[in-house]
Amino acid sequence: MDKRPIGIFDSGIGGITVLAEAARTMPGQRFIYFGDTANAPYGTKDVQRVVQLSMKAAGFLMDRNIKALIVACNTATSAAIDQLREALDIPVIGMEPALKPAVETGQGGTVVVMATSLTLREKKFSQLMEKYSSRASIIPMPCPGLVELIEAGIWEGKKIKDFLSKRFSGLRINDITDIVLGCTHYVFIKDEIQRFFDQRVRIVDGNQGTARQLRRILTAKEASGQDMLCNDFDQSLFEFYFSGNTNDTKNLCKSWLRTQLCLKTG
Ligand code: DGL
Repeated sequence: MDKRPIGIFDSGIGGITVLAEAARTMPGQRFIYFGDTANAPYGTKDVQRVVQLSMKAAGFLMDRNIKALIVACNTATSAAIDQLREALDIPVIGMEPALKPAVETGQGGTVVVMATSLTLREKKFSQLMEKYSSRASIIPMPCPGLVELIEAGIWEGKKIKDFLSKRFSGLRINDITDIVLGCTHYVFIKDEIQRFFDQRVRIVDGNQGTARQLRRILTAKEASGQDMLCNDFDQSLFEFYFSGNTNDTKNLCKSWLRTQLCLKTG
């Protein structure tokens, strides 16, 4: 196996939810995570700025000799995936709102796509809408302000409930059967969204699809799955860097990941 680590970045902590899935899917691999917390959120910035920030984040990880890059951010993918692929000579895996599985295996009612304003106004998302809007009733829902709450560690309780009430007011709630989380941060509030809907909706995110895509690419490249059989997660497989801060963020991410993966402490 190529022992180099896999690089993964997001505007902040959202990509940790993708890291958890990738680590679960590919045990034994090393990961280096970069969260651009000094510049979060990306979703309210203009495209050029997000391209710049994404190139910089990728450069930081390339300097650490990664063998593949996961852009664990729908917003950065919408803005910068083509430029990243052109600039880097390693596989680059991006994310997009998981509208395809939501529609194809949906429950027949309205599908709401929660994502950042930038993701929803970019070409990639219009193309997705073009493809699926004749097959389901789809409501794109920009959620400005939500990433900031999640970055602050507010993942449940009154503030999130109030946010959701406001955002979903005016919609026919009972018609909604499927929610697509088109921003990696929103995975942290999945439980609160389920409670808001009395456990009635199906919530879909793109994390597993991205992790599987990574595994397909690396397995093909490395022509071996042997080292991936180990399911003993080890903290030393993960390195975290954040541009803007704080040990608090690092600790928050580590402990969340540990509970997700049942990491050995250390
Ligand atoms: N987590 C990111 C995404 O998947 C971006 C959030 C933001 O910085 O606005 O879109």
